[in-house]
Amino acid sequence: NTVVLIGAPVQTGTNIQGCVMGPDALRTAGLQGSLEALGYSVIDRGNVLPEPGPNRVHSNSAVHHLSDTISWTEKLHAVALEEMREGSLPLFLGGDHSMAAGTVSGIAQAAEEAGEEQFVLWLDAHPDFHNLSTTSSGNLHGTPAAYFCGLSGFEGYYPKLNTAIKPENICMMGLRSVDNPERSALQKAGIETYDMRRIDENGVVKPVTEFLSRVKKANGRLHVSFDVDFLDPDIAPAVGTTVPGGATFREAHLIMEMLCDSQLVTSVDLVELNPFLDVRGRTATLMTDLVSSLFGKQVLDHPNRA
Ligand code: ARG
Ligand code: MN
Ligand code: MN
Ligand code: MN
Repeated sequence: NTVVLIGAPVQTGTNIQGCVMGPDALRTAGLQGSLEALGYSVIDRGNVLPEPGPNRVHSNSAVHHLSDTISWTEKLHAVALEEMREGSLPLFLGGDHSMAAGTVSGIAQAAEEAGEEQFVLWLDAHPDFHNLSTTSSGNLHGTPAAYFCGLSGFEGYYPKLNTAIKPENICMMGLRSVDNPERSALQKAGIETYDMRRIDENGVVKPVTEFLSRVKKANGRLHVSFDVDFLDPDIAPAVGTTVPGGATFREAHLIMEMLCDSQLVTSVDLVELNPFLDVRGRTATLMTDLVSSLFGKQVLDHPNRA
């Protein structure tokens, strides 16, 4: 499959400026060249931009940039749907995580059209499982997962969802900052969650292996939504919502290598990179190196490769 890079300079879902620079930082870190060096043909479609829409205001007055974020959702939904229909392997370069409302909903619709089961691996310190009423920060990057699962609390604002992701097809790893309304909504939905305590106790191999075997058994497609704050802030400082105690360099690379071995990944979001907060491109470079592992970069040949 052709790897297609799609820049989504979204920052309306946060209250910190800088994610708008994310796609270009990933490009500057050499993402396209790294993938080409691994033998892929890569097309960079440049950055997409939303069409302006009507002004919408929500009764939760904390919610900000609702209209712009909805416009991004519509645009990215359409772009994701189109790329998946084409059979490409899209890499969405964010942009804050509010963009996943569009990318994942478009990907879900394409999978349904193809009669295939869509799975999501959510690598993040946060579940981003608020709706428009429960968010107290009003930052819409805290809401996309609830939206693409088809939960209530978006009606009349976000686009009507054609195809939801089934909660049982989602695995969230790296959680260490969960707000109370999110906690109850996650439980109610029955999403598989691995917080950092579970990772500390059992490592990443078992949960990732189990999840990938479920995807494989269903002959499913796998979207990876990778939030920079999944990683420990010591190795990945360039994100507005750092939370201490994140995934290590080695855990993150191992997950990428296991994903590569599985050959199941069909689309990827790289989100929340804020290059304005970075230290000499360190986080952009790390994200690029992790993507290289995801696409097959190895130190030595590894016998487990599928
Ligand atoms: N739960 C917090 C909020 O709703 C943090 C969300 C962080 N999300 C993210 N995509 N970084 O404001
Ligand atoms: Mn997130
Ligand atoms: Mn996060
Ligand atoms: Mn649609």
